[in-house]
Amino acid sequence: MASSIQLCAATTILCILAGIGWQKFCKARSQWMEDLELLGRPRKQKLHGTAVVCGGSIAGTVTARILADHFERVVLVDPELEDMEKPKTRIVQYNAAHVYLSLFVHGARKLWPNFDSEFLAVTGRLVPADSGIRYSGVRVINPDQDYPSGSFPESLVIRRSTSQKVLSRLLIQHPTSANITIIPGTIRGFEATSDVTSIQSVTVRKLDGTEAVLNDVAMVADCTGTTQAGLKWLRKAGFSLPENIRRSYDANLRYTTLNFTVPAELEAKLPIPESARNTMFAYGHLEHFAYGGRLYGLMLTDNNTMQLSLCNTDDNLPRVASDVVPWLTSIRSHAEVPTWFLETIEILCEQGEPWFDHTRIAPQSYIQYHKAPARTLPSNFIAIGDAVMQLNPVNGQGFAKILLSGIALNTLLLNTDPKASNLPTDFPARYFKTSAAYSQGLWDGTRLHDYGDVNCEPMDGNN
Ligand SMILES: Cc1cc2nc3c(=O)[nH]c(=O)nc-3n(C[C@H](O)[C@H](O)[C@H](O)COP(=O)(O)OP(=O)(O)OC[C@H]3O[C@@H](n4cnc5c(N)ncnc54)[C@H](O)[C@@H]3O)c2cc1C
Ligand SMILES: *[C@@H]1O[C@H](CO)[C@@H](O)[C@H](O)[C@H]1NC(C)=O
Ligand SMILES: *[C@@H]1O[C@H](CO)[C@@H](O)[C@H](O)[C@H]1NC(C)=O
Ligand SMILES: *[C@@H]1O[C@H](CO)[C@@H](O)[C@H](O)[C@H]1NC(C)=O
Repeated sequence: MASSIQLCAATTILCILAGIGWQKFCKARSQWMEDLELLGRPRKQKLHGTAVVCGGSIAGTVTARILADHFERVVLVDPELEDMEKPKTRIVQYNAAHVYLSLFVHGARKLWPNFDSEFLAVTGRLVPADSGIRYSGVRVINPDQDYPSGSFPESLVIRRSTSQKVLSRLLIQHPTSANITIIPGTIRGFEATSDVTSIQSVTVRKLDGTEAVLNDVAMVADCTGTTQAGLKWLRKAGFSLPENIRRSYDANLRYTTLNFTVPAELEAKLPIPESARNTMFAYGHLEHFAYGGRLYGLMLTDNNTMQLSLCNTDDNLPRVASDVVPWLTSIRSHAEVPTWFLETIEILCEQGEPWFDHTRIAPQSYIQYHKAPARTLPSNFIAIGDAVMQLNPVNGQGFAKILLSGIALNTLLLNTDPKASNLPTDFPARYFKTSAAYSQGLWDGTRLHDYGDVNCEPMDGNN
């Protein structure tokens, strides 16, 4: 499967080291690759009741779209959905540079057949899934032999602010939106059924301050991102989940994005070679672990803009344009950084109206719902996206991770009997188990990498 190359990227290095025997392991098809193809196919007889999606960012949008293929009604609640085009204020990384791996692109195309045309209309760039990353200046090897020239799957390069708006637009344009109700408001909590086996109702506070109670709840999906509100709501409603179900460590990451305005006249002055225009990062650089944990990359984004992202595990990041090139050149490397790249940054810092967005990335966390003892989770609860797992964003896996869980959810729902009045009691256990199997490697891989940095504060215990 095409998109496998990105999830396999880290493993690929190991495979090369370990020799040909590993090749088979790397290239084995996983169940999710088969199930990915089942996304976006509406079922004939819908499941009874209303599916409530808490949070309407990326996970909420993808989940609402999937659930609309399965349930009679979907309700999507988020305080920032009143005007979908308005910049989001509750997402710290809204102005941060993002990449969108081909797994996300492939899955989203299944959900929205007009994905490409809508993204191209706002001048989003669909480019071959070649990251353009150098490790200490040395180009990371691509699996070229598996993809004869030009046939890499596509990934997307665009500002997050633009992608977020386009995804919301895709959701409301799709025919299934006829059965999706959007409520601008904040979820306040759940009420359990009297036997505490499922969620009976969900309380919403609307923007005008009035409260509404959603009944007939067939499913509740926690898509509240960093807030991870679902866990608090479950405990408050009487579901007793183990104390240590939420694990976290702190990679101590600071992330700065510089965005540049680059009209055609300015772009013409930039010495960017043609070969660097057809990759995700025109130039991306990962510091050798023996020197430190710094990372930077330049992306050619939508609508005459470019973004330079800078990441560090301590607070030493440039704050003014004149400090940027000195910061870049202070990083030791095994191969030289190309002069065209440094010249480009110099010109952009002078003439590209640089604008800085500094963020302190929240600690990495994982609510291990799949380890909840049997029957402690309500039979109609799931969680998806950062509401479950917040990764070090260094590998740009956040959107792809949402798709992986979406695939697990979709397949389980396809196998659910529409004649039953409720979901089977083991539904969440099965969902979280599959979803965890698909994304555990992302957590382990980035975590073990982070543990190599002196500024990382590991989590307690071993798992
Ligand atoms: C600096 C940085 C760079 C990143 N770069 C990349 C990248 O390059 N590629 C990539 O794929 N990922 C990247 N990520 C990760 C990616 O941004 C996240 O994984 C993604 O935003 C998660 O989406 P989400 O919908 O789960 O949560 P969020 O985007 O955090 O959205 C949560 C939503 O829940 C809503 N909400 C919260 N509480 C309530 C409530 N009580 N009621 C109703 N709604 C509520 C909020 O309003 C918000 O809309 C990056 C992250 C960071 C921090
Ligand atoms: C591009 O940016 C300009 C100026 O910021 C804006 O007016 C225009 O609407 C944008 N175009 C698209 C397609 O987003
Ligand atoms: C909306 O729901 C009804 C009732 O379940 C169903 O018959 C109809 O096909 C749905 N519409 C769409 C566009 O999915
Ligand atoms: C840079 O980010 C700021 C804050 O989001 C935004 O107002 C501005 O339009 C952005 N400019 C570009 C070129 O992306």
